[in-house]
Amino acid sequence: LAKIEIKLADIPEGKSVTFKWRGKPLFIRHRSADEIAKEQAVAVSSLRDPQHDNERTQRPEWLVVLGVCTHLGCVPIANSGDYGGYYCPCHGSHYDASGRIRKGPAPLNLEVPPHNFPSDDVVIVG
Ligand code: FES
Repeated sequence: LAKIEIKLADIPEGKSVTFKWRGKPLFIRHRSADEIAKEQAVAVSSLRDPQHDNERTQRPEWLVVLGVCTHLGCVPIANSGDYGGYYCPCHGSHYDASGRIRKGPAPLNLEVPPHNFPSDDVVIVG
Protein backbone atom coordinates (compact mmCIF):
# COMPACT_ATOMS: atom_id res chain seq x y z
CA LEU A 1 0.00 0.00 0.00
CA ALA A 2 1.41 3.36 -0.99
CA LYS A 3 1.18 5.90 1.78
CA ILE A 4 1.28 9.66 1.61
CA GLU A 5 2.08 12.10 4.34
CA ILE A 6 0.33 15.47 4.34
CA LYS A 7 1.14 18.55 6.40
CA LEU A 8 -2.10 19.83 7.85
CA ALA A 9 -0.81 23.38 8.27
CA ASP A 10 -1.10 23.77 4.49
CA ILE A 11 -4.90 23.38 4.64
CA PRO A 12 -6.72 26.43 6.02
CA GLU A 13 -9.93 26.07 7.99
CA GLY A 14 -12.96 25.95 5.71
CA LYS A 15 -10.99 24.59 2.75
CA SER A 16 -10.95 21.21 1.09
CA VAL A 17 -7.67 20.50 -0.67
CA THR A 18 -7.21 17.79 -3.30
CA PHE A 19 -4.26 15.42 -3.26
CA LYS A 20 -3.57 12.27 -5.21
CA TRP A 21 -3.41 8.86 -3.54
CA ARG A 22 -2.99 5.56 -5.38
CA GLY A 23 -4.05 7.25 -8.61
CA LYS A 24 -7.25 8.66 -7.14
CA PRO A 25 -8.19 12.15 -5.98
CA LEU A 26 -8.13 12.50 -2.21
CA PHE A 27 -9.94 15.32 -0.41
CA ILE A 28 -8.76 16.61 2.92
CA ARG A 29 -11.14 19.08 4.45
CA HIS A 30 -10.37 21.31 7.41
CA ARG A 31 -13.78 21.65 8.98
CA SER A 32 -14.92 24.63 11.01
CA ALA A 33 -16.60 24.27 14.42
CA ASP A 34 -19.94 25.12 12.76
CA GLU A 35 -19.53 22.41 10.14
CA ILE A 36 -18.60 19.84 12.77
CA ALA A 37 -21.61 20.73 14.92
CA LYS A 38 -23.94 20.55 11.93
CA GLU A 39 -22.71 17.14 10.74
CA GLN A 40 -22.70 15.68 14.23
CA ALA A 41 -26.34 16.68 14.67
CA VAL A 42 -27.63 14.93 11.52
CA ALA A 43 -30.07 12.11 12.37
CA VAL A 44 -28.37 8.94 11.17
CA SER A 45 -31.75 7.29 10.46
CA SER A 46 -32.44 9.97 7.82
CA LEU A 47 -29.40 8.95 5.76
CA ARG A 48 -29.28 6.71 2.69
CA ASP A 49 -25.95 5.23 3.83
CA PRO A 50 -26.37 5.60 7.60
CA GLN A 51 -23.14 6.60 9.32
CA HIS A 52 -22.64 9.01 12.17
CA ASP A 53 -20.05 11.71 11.61
CA ASN A 54 -17.96 10.12 14.38
CA GLU A 55 -17.63 6.94 12.35
CA ARG A 56 -16.14 8.92 9.48
CA THR A 57 -13.57 11.07 11.22
CA GLN A 58 -10.83 10.37 13.72
CA ARG A 59 -10.35 14.02 14.53
CA PRO A 60 -13.55 15.97 13.87
CA GLU A 61 -11.78 18.94 12.29
CA TRP A 62 -10.32 16.73 9.55
CA LEU A 63 -12.42 14.91 6.96
CA VAL A 64 -10.40 12.55 4.75
CA VAL A 65 -12.32 11.05 1.79
CA LEU A 66 -11.70 9.81 -1.73
CA GLY A 67 -12.80 12.30 -4.37
CA VAL A 68 -14.63 9.63 -6.33
CA CYS A 69 -18.42 9.86 -6.62
CA THR A 70 -19.99 6.55 -5.62
CA HIS A 71 -22.40 6.76 -8.54
CA LEU A 72 -20.18 6.44 -11.61
CA GLY A 73 -16.87 7.77 -10.41
CA CYS A 74 -16.73 11.45 -11.37
CA VAL A 75 -14.79 13.87 -9.19
CA PRO A 76 -17.13 15.93 -6.99
CA ILE A 77 -16.65 19.68 -6.45
CA ALA A 78 -15.84 20.91 -2.94
CA ASN A 79 -17.94 23.42 -0.99
CA SER A 80 -20.78 23.04 -3.38
CA GLY A 81 -24.25 21.50 -3.57
CA ASP A 82 -27.29 21.68 -1.28
CA TYR A 83 -25.53 20.27 1.79
CA GLY A 84 -22.38 22.36 1.78
CA GLY A 85 -19.96 19.50 1.30
CA TYR A 86 -19.40 18.20 -2.21
CA TYR A 87 -21.43 18.20 -5.40
CA CYS A 88 -20.98 15.82 -8.32
CA PRO A 89 -21.92 17.61 -11.53
CA CYS A 90 -22.10 14.46 -13.66
CA HIS A 91 -25.61 13.49 -12.53
CA GLY A 92 -26.26 15.72 -9.53
CA SER A 93 -25.23 13.93 -6.34
CA HIS A 94 -25.01 16.09 -3.22
CA TYR A 95 -22.75 15.12 -0.30
CA ASP A 96 -22.54 16.79 3.08
CA ALA A 97 -19.41 18.00 4.90
CA SER A 98 -18.99 14.50 6.29
CA GLY A 99 -18.89 13.16 2.71
CA ARG A 100 -22.25 11.43 3.17
CA ILE A 101 -24.65 11.12 0.26
CA ARG A 102 -27.72 13.29 0.85
CA LYS A 103 -29.41 13.71 -2.53
CA GLY A 104 -29.03 12.45 -6.11
CA PRO A 105 -28.27 9.04 -7.60
CA ALA A 106 -25.10 8.02 -5.71
CA PRO A 107 -25.78 5.01 -3.45
CA LEU A 108 -23.01 5.39 -0.87
CA ASN A 109 -21.03 7.92 1.12
CA LEU A 110 -17.64 9.03 -0.18
CA GLU A 111 -15.11 6.42 0.91
CA VAL A 112 -12.92 7.16 3.92
CA PRO A 113 -9.49 5.64 3.23
CA PRO A 114 -7.29 4.27 6.03
CA HIS A 115 -5.50 7.16 7.70
CA ASN A 116 -3.92 8.16 10.97
CA PHE A 117 -2.48 11.19 12.71
CA PRO A 118 1.04 10.48 13.99
CA SER A 119 1.24 14.03 15.35
CA ASP A 120 -0.96 17.11 15.62
CA ASP A 121 0.05 18.53 12.28
CA VAL A 122 0.45 15.48 10.02
CA VAL A 123 -1.91 12.92 8.52
CA ILE A 124 -0.73 9.73 6.84
CA VAL A 125 -3.13 8.20 4.32
CA GLY A 126 -2.67 4.56 3.36
FE1 FES B 1 -21.50 11.47 -9.63
FE2 FES B 1 -23.13 10.27 -11.39
S1 FES B 1 -20.98 10.11 -11.22
S2 FES B 1 -23.63 11.70 -9.85
